[in-house]
Amino acid sequence: MVQQELPTATRERLLTPNTEGVPSAQLQLPPGPFQITTPPFDTLQRFWNILSILLAPREFFRAMEQYGDVYRMLPFIGSDVAMVSGVENLKQCWAYEKEGKLVQVSPPVIQQLMGKENLNAIEGEDHARMRRLYMSAFTQAALMSYVPTVEDIVDKYVDRWVAAAREGRQLDLSSDMKLYTLEVAWKVLCGQASISDDKLQQLSESFMAWVKGLAAPWTKGWVAPFNIYDKALEAKDDIMQFAASVVDAKRAMSPAERAASRKDVVDYLLSARMTSDGEVVDAESADAGKDADVFQMSDQAIADNVLLTLFAGHDTSSSTLGVMLVALASNPQVLKDLRKELDDAAQGRSRIPWPELRKLPFLDAVITETLRWEPIVVQLSRMAEEDLEIGGYLVPKGWQVDYNLFATNQDGSVFSDPSFFDPYRHLQGQINGGSPVPFGGGKRVCPGAELARLEMKMLLDRFVREVEFEAIDASSLELSRFPNPFPASKGGFKARLTERVVEV
Ligand code: HEM
Repeated sequence: MVQQELPTATRERLLTPNTEGVPSAQLQLPPGPFQITTPPFDTLQRFWNILSILLAPREFFRAMEQYGDVYRMLPFIGSDVAMVSGVENLKQCWAYEKEGKLVQVSPPVIQQLMGKENLNAIEGEDHARMRRLYMSAFTQAALMSYVPTVEDIVDKYVDRWVAAAREGRQLDLSSDMKLYTLEVAWKVLCGQASISDDKLQQLSESFMAWVKGLAAPWTKGWVAPFNIYDKALEAKDDIMQFAASVVDAKRAMSPAERAASRKDVVDYLLSARMTSDGEVVDAESADAGKDADVFQMSDQAIADNVLLTLFAGHDTSSSTLGVMLVALASNPQVLKDLRKELDDAAQGRSRIPWPELRKLPFLDAVITETLRWEPIVVQLSRMAEEDLEIGGYLVPKGWQVDYNLFATNQDGSVFSDPSFFDPYRHLQGQINGGSPVPFGGGKRVCPGAELARLEMKMLLDRFVREVEFEAIDASSLELSRFPNPFPASKGGFKARLTERVVEV
């Protein structure tokens, strides 16, 4: 184990009297692995760290276990990193975030692609206000209004799979699940009516080009065909123009047309108002009218948050469904118990209404365990605005603080046999304190967590009850991890389907 020396500037700062709760000078910097810090090898070392975490997080973090819950590493770019895991340590970090001591980092190249007014890029009061307006689109009542749209999309895909089962056709289920979550994301966001299948295809291509740019910001200004970042900016324009046209069309609607149409996320964002006493109300309510200085999202903020919502909500959910296919196909008893719970709840109905579906304990446990077992979001980064004490160590001002969600979800002292897929642990109180943290926590905890559960549960309800599936080759049951976990075989999760005969 390498014990780190305090940097001179930090040592000097700590020698001054401690008047503001600054951590004691006795605190040590976190320990950490041996890292090559001499240029140019440090660049290679940084690259190696990030590659290992992306490709094989399980192995990488296991090798780091010896350093405990807080350790020091070199990041890909920039300052030193304190890698933090463990629910208690993360709670401490989320408390620091609330006090503005740990802040979001959003480099300019990423901001240019994501937009400056997206919720994830902003901080402090701006974030708090924007977040409250954004949350108006994710209340239980709002989710209930998205149910008919999701039902239509579930029917489209499950009907397709039932047809394939009848015709004895094999297909790649995981790719279909990607298309399913993409369609849900677009239509729940911008409305069922506004997007034809052709438009959806074109927007999806733009979205993919945009995501590639996010992953390769260093290609900015490169010559074609290597100018991935610049192509991503063009793709962004395409999506933004579409988002603007959706907003314009909604503004042009008469009250009668509005009342007759299904509500989507953009509808909620357009009509959310924050009054001067901090209450969030609908534009048409009397409270919104009485205040002259109400706060509302600008058109730019709505467009930026449409893009963020697509990014945050699509790949995460499709990856979870891909992992779940592997988990269910490899654990027949779990699948059997899940079917039983759903059959019992359905009582012969073609689908279980959302208010009942959302409360089914085993279905919920299967989703939670999937997110714990193969975490989608591996880590989140923040920056220390002042010297902090985390897990008994000193984390100096200016360090990057990474929340290690992966290792926290795999913590053997909380989850016995963490590498086993075991949904029953969430029912039987086998968890030794704490809980999985797939959706992060604190003031930035995922606002879409319940929507993600809704779209997964509604799909599983019909899919699991109506179709039997098995992987046609062993490689479909392996997961690759780049950029997100997903069934690894070349064709994804290639499945043989049969129509299920329900025993009554
Ligand atoms: C399985 C699916 C999902 C997972 C695992 C997931 C995970 C996360 C995590 C870990 C964060 C915290 C980021 C941070 O602290 O910087 C987050 C934030 C966020 N998520 Fe999700 N998410 C999922 C689905 C969704 C969906 C469906 C939506 C929207 C429809 C969504 C929208 C967002 C937004 C807007 C933020 C930023 C919140 C803020 O900065 O205040 N997510 N998500």
